[in-house]
Amino acid sequence: MRSTQIRTTFTDFFTSRGHQQVPSSPLIPDDPTLLLANAGMNQFKPYFLGETTPPFPRATSIQKCARTSDIDNVGRTNRHATFFEMMGNFSFGDYFKEDAIAFAWELLTKGYGLEKDKLWITVFEDDDESEHLWRRIGVPASRIQRLGMEDNYWSMGVPGPCGPCSEVNYDRGPAFGKEGGPAIDGERYVEIWNLVFMQFQRGEGDKKGNFPILGELARKGVDTGLGLDRLAAILQDAQNVCTTDLLLPTFDSVQDLAGRACPAEGEEKVSFQVVTEHARSIAFLIADGVLPAKDGRGYILRRLMRRAIRHARCLGIDGPVLPATTASVIGNLSDVWPELTGQAALIEQVVTAEEESFTRTLAQGTRLLDAAITHTREKRSAALPGETAFELADTYGFPLELTVEAAREAGLTVDEERFAALLDGQKKRAKAGGKAKTAEALRKMDTYRELAARLPRTEFLGYEHLSAEATVTGLMSGGTVVPSAGAGAEVELVLDRSPFYAEAGGQIGDTGTLTTTDGTVLRITDTRYGLEGFRVHFAFVLEGELTTGATGEAQVDAERRAGLVRSHSATHILHAVVMATLGDHARQQGSLVEPDRLRFDFAHFTALTPDQLHHIEQAVNGHVLDDPKVTAWHADRAEAEAAGAIALFGEKYGERVRIVDIGDFSRELCGGTHVAHGSQVGTFSLLSESSIGSNLRRVEALTGHSALRHLDTERRLLGELASLLGTRPTEAPGALRKRLEALAAAQETLSRLRAEELRHQAGQLATQAQPVGQGQLVVRLVTGIAPDELRGLVADTLARLGRGPVVVVLGAEHKGKALLASAISSGLHQAGTQASRILAEAARTVGGGSGGRGPLASAGGRHPEALNQALEIAAYEATRLLSNG
Ligand code: ALA
Repeated sequence: MRSTQIRTTFTDFFTSRGHQQVPSSPLIPDDPTLLLANAGMNQFKPYFLGETTPPFPRATSIQKCARTSDIDNVGRTNRHATFFEMMGNFSFGDYFKEDAIAFAWELLTKGYGLEKDKLWITVFEDDDESEHLWRRIGVPASRIQRLGMEDNYWSMGVPGPCGPCSEVNYDRGPAFGKEGGPAIDGERYVEIWNLVFMQFQRGEGDKKGNFPILGELARKGVDTGLGLDRLAAILQDAQNVCTTDLLLPTFDSVQDLAGRACPAEGEEKVSFQVVTEHARSIAFLIADGVLPAKDGRGYILRRLMRRAIRHARCLGIDGPVLPATTASVIGNLSDVWPELTGQAALIEQVVTAEEESFTRTLAQGTRLLDAAITHTREKRSAALPGETAFELADTYGFPLELTVEAAREAGLTVDEERFAALLDGQKKRAKAGGKAKTAEALRKMDTYRELAARLPRTEFLGYEHLSAEATVTGLMSGGTVVPSAGAGAEVELVLDRSPFYAEAGGQIGDTGTLTTTDGTVLRITDTRYGLEGFRVHFAFVLEGELTTGATGEAQVDAERRAGLVRSHSATHILHAVVMATLGDHARQQGSLVEPDRLRFDFAHFTALTPDQLHHIEQAVNGHVLDDPKVTAWHADRAEAEAAGAIALFGEKYGERVRIVDIGDFSRELCGGTHVAHGSQVGTFSLLSESSIGSNLRRVEALTGHSALRHLDTERRLLGELASLLGTRPTEAPGALRKRLEALAAAQETLSRLRAEELRHQAGQLATQAQPVGQGQLVVRLVTGIAPDELRGLVADTLARLGRGPVVVVLGAEHKGKALLASAISSGLHQAGTQASRILAEAARTVGGGSGGRGPLASAGGRHPEALNQALEIAAYEATRLLSNG
């Protein structure tokens, strides 16, 4: 089965079972606690936590994921990868273990046709319910194993939802490893599908599973992940993830570059696979906007690129390796992931630049290494000093293995103990210091100050122009001034004039490009103020060598800026409308202006009603449609305030201020960029309103394209709802109300009938009472009954048996658990007996406990198969009581 068919089979299976199909979120998550998207559930985290109401109770997606926790296993095992497509189904407070297990079993055995007896299951150590469900579906106990926190408990690795999980593993046969199930060998019994039963909220802790549980989730649910690579390897009978149709063309491109085939075993095989696998991660990360950097997600990308390059060199590939291998990824996967084609040029530029710069680094490192080897020999020493190995690793990114290998070729060893000690010392220092970071930040501030004093102020052209000729007047890298910087370098630039807006007043900084007359190309990734009034462009050198004094064309990303101006003008209109609706106290307290999306905080003492929100949204859209003119003018501060401009508390403005008017209803001091006419905002759509502190409210809204997309999604959802109800959208609420009323009536009838049935059953049970001593005894196993019904039934049966000493004990199985209930007549209770006494031993027999005082007791346990035995024990207790009485 080709991977395209594997994907559609998955999606079709779940959409036809009521799951909303949701596209993958980008690899850069909308979650500050997470560097890269690592699971399909990331984008649904607020639904599980109850922060947002899910627009649908179940969803399915195929998510792009990046994880480097297993990076050292890539190429060494058949199954590990740093990028993968994870197919998942999700329930937000809808179905739980039973359906999740049934879905997985049906899809794997029927949809994908996997042989049942090759599937092995693991469940969390105390999860009897899941084991019971798997057994009920037909998995023998011998193929179910229990594992602990490390293996069968899942969280994102950061605070968020978490819970026990159950995994489906596929036995690839004796050629792949040892017998004994997934607990013994993960290569032979490869994990394909993880079913997580999201139940709790985890706090800050470590990734190993040591973290505090903060409580139950607002919406318990299901999060699953079926690995496309691994399933494809099984269905295509490929030995490993590099030889399925997802990666085979890339694997071939590496073999072409090496000029030979990958061997069946050994270190070279590892290198072939590392290059193949990393090429895919690299292409996807860049396509989603990650650029190489010295920390954060940029560092993860850099590390992947450097590993791939190094392994390529081990294969004797001396020329560029990343451009061709990433191109094959784009060629192979862009039908499914069109962003790869969209960003193909950027991917090529970035990998080329990074490979050039790392190749230089490797060359410098090699020179240093050669010199050290010569020196060691001259000293007639047998070991290369640990200091050298450490400097190579630390400064040149030259991994220890490479140094060891080179030393070995020269007949030397490496003082690895010293190396480890130095590395350890460095780790300790890094821990001890945010201090080092502070020092770097201080050095950077000094550099800013020095440059700001020396250089003329940047002329800002961005109100009128999106591109301009500009000269690089200042160049920084690593916190200090540098004369020039080559491809692959991260730099900060000062320009004599610039169309780039630097983040201020809530509006985030512009991005774009700078292309110099001598052909150097830079990607501007952000623009911010280093110091007040000192504009810094953050950039990445894509091509060529940038020198101070270079001149070129600075070009702002126009579409992104258009989204920013829409949001900024919408924020001003919203501010005016909020104050007009709620009163003068409802002033802006903060805002975030992003492309086609805004967040607005204001003072108010209570939550807004749906009517107020509706009114605000309508009023903003009304102003937009009136198409007011937007004008900016300058004045003295006093003059501006006299003219009624709203100045935001806490913001600093110079003596001359800029004032932005929108029609005759909004006048604010503002340095931001705006639309020329109100109607250019497009559509304004409110998303949410919430409290963010005492007397502080926050609304979030969309404008422009995002608002249109949002409305479109809502319209489609309503359409789907209407079609489920078999009516038109306008009739849907009426139709749903009718159904709910009918349902309520049916439920009422049902509970009436049920009550009658239970009364009848109590009557029947009462006729089966046995005389014991002076009294009567009923002990029975009943079926098809819920816990609260069972308690009602014992009480009712007791009531029918008159005034003498009576004991009633009932047992039942419910959802894989044992239930017990007992009742004793009031005379027995008044004489000092508790109903729980009858159940104490019986409850232990079914693996539970009983408690409570009074004439009525109930208990539950994990072993329904022991119910008969438990009832016999309870009957014995009851008989003793009645005989003594
Ligand atoms: N979120 C679960 C995982 O990543 C399904 O394994």
